[in-house]
Amino acid sequence: MSIQLPRRRFMAPDITQLKGVAPIVALTSYHAHTAAIADAHCEFLLVGDSLGMVMHGYETTVPVPLELMIMHGKAVVRGSKRALVVIDMPFGTYEESPSVAFRNAARVMKETDCGAVKLEGGRRMGETIRFLVERGIPVMAHIGLTPQTINVLGGFKTQGRTRDQWQAIEDDARIVTDAGAFAVVLEAMAAPLAERITAAIEIPTIGIGASPGCDGQILVMEDMLGLSPRVPKFVKKFGAVASAINDAIAAYADEVRARTFPSVEHTYEVKPDGAPQAKLQAQAKATKKPKTTAT
Ligand code: KIV
Repeated sequence: MSIQLPRRRFMAPDITQLKGVAPIVALTSYHAHTAAIADAHCEFLLVGDSLGMVMHGYETTVPVPLELMIMHGKAVVRGSKRALVVIDMPFGTYEESPSVAFRNAARVMKETDCGAVKLEGGRRMGETIRFLVERGIPVMAHIGLTPQTINVLGGFKTQGRTRDQWQAIEDDARIVTDAGAFAVVLEAMAAPLAERITAAIEIPTIGIGASPGCDGQILVMEDMLGLSPRVPKFVKKFGAVASAINDAIAAYADEVRARTFPSVEHTYEVKPDGAPQAKLQAQAKATKKPKTTAT
């Protein structure tokens, strides 16, 4: 007899094993209800620090605090049951030293119950990635455009557009692989470079503005749904959620102004007086045993 075990969540090694087997589908997710929907379609959900821009109106990801990542991370873990949940370490919480990174990443994992963390940087993060992985924290790396360093880069600039930049980025990919990362995000980089990296390393590459040749793809959910007002060139809008929301809110406003909402089906009646009492008495009478007389 065989026992069918319930399908458990994807774990970091499951994602690594998908390289060369099947394309890996991922989205960012910041809240429980959308996590529940995406969960059925994605191998992993990333609680990205882009939530600072998408949900909280910051201009960059730099101001995002750890507490915000933990709060949204908990919501996504609660909302999903199948996908691996990966949480971004925000700027300033891991760069200083491997031990600072461990303390903060361990806090993220303990408080949210997520399965992995992501951090930005190649060569400069090699030692930290190794330190975390050796101590039980699965790490997804992130190279190419690293938005947390925007103030040094001078803008959200595509990487590897000229071949003289390639070697440094290929070295980054090799270093994070050898340090033990289970996958690596390649953000906004020339497609042929992303393809070379994908062929060269043993862990899956997850492209965002990279190449269809990557082992998987990720997009910011609000961008691909058509909710974000401004999106980078690499985003395809798979939905038109902003106009759907606008239409729904406009219809609501019209009905409130016309006093047609709420209608009878959306309001509560007062129960007729004594009704529950009468029902109880009728039930009691029906179940009463007839009296038997002694002979
Ligand atoms: O924060 C984020 O949304 C990300 C993706 C761009 C991969 O890191």
